[in-house]
Amino acid sequence: MQIVRDVASLREAVAALRADGATVALVPTMGALHAGHMALVAEGKRRASHVVASIFVNPKQFAPSEDLSTYPRREAGDARMLDEAGCALLWAPGVEVMYPGGFATNVGVAGVSEPLDGAARPGHFDGVATVVLKLFNQVQPDVALFGEKDYQQLAVIRRMVRDLDVPIEIVGVPTQRDADGLALSSRNAYLTDEERRAARALPRALGEAAAAIQGGGDVADALASARDKLSKARFETIDYVELRDAGTLAEMRELDAPARLLAAARIGRTRLIDNLPVTPPA
Ligand code: PAF
Repeated sequence: MQIVRDVASLREAVAALRADGATVALVPTMGALHAGHMALVAEGKRRASHVVASIFVNPKQFAPSEDLSTYPRREAGDARMLDEAGCALLWAPGVEVMYPGGFATNVGVAGVSEPLDGAARPGHFDGVATVVLKLFNQVQPDVALFGEKDYQQLAVIRRMVRDLDVPIEIVGVPTQRDADGLALSSRNAYLTDEERRAARALPRALGEAAAAIQGGGDVADALASARDKLSKARFETIDYVELRDAGTLAEMRELDAPARLLAAARIGRTRLIDNLPVTPPA
């Protein structure tokens, strides 16, 4: 697998991959790769001739109080995993390549980026949209893959691509979970053993709330019960547990359309997010 760090080398390498009409899938990441990222690579291989992965820890999507400086960075190990998974090319620009001096552009996606993580992490989705649009313009893939674990991020990117006529197919890949149900995340590495055990309450509470709502239970009661379970399991801050429209992320008080149950909560110094689909009975 070739590793490139400047835009001219990237363009040359992608042009070589595209010889004879071959297609390209992009898997954008911030590194610290796990089986969730590898599922994106595997899906990319099913959908295109070649997979290009990117690793860039994007400062624009971290607030000053967040974990930019401690975010796990292990490029050599990540590159080995990508190579073994059959990735053709790794795009690993530095901050000065992605945001050269004088960089002044911001991509904002109104509406879908505003509630939930948009409210809890002001500016986060502008940072995501800005870097993802740059990655799309740099690599110019046919298809790009994102995990459903970051469900709101996926909705923001889908909206941006529709609004700006970006000719790239966006594919969401189901969340990968550990055997105990916890969604795989690079940030799980921050959890102590005790926090890791307590964190299992998050997928469990969401699963129980999703089943209750799907079974016709009152939405507000199910959400309150999930919040209560998280508090009892030692989550110190609960940013949200909400039922939202699966496409627009508009708030839902009853299950009258395909929905997503989403939660974000903090245990120790780690903020975890998770979500599940909830489908109205036929
Ligand atoms: O999901 C991520 O890892 C990041 O938000 C992304 C999409 C690579 C943009 O920095």
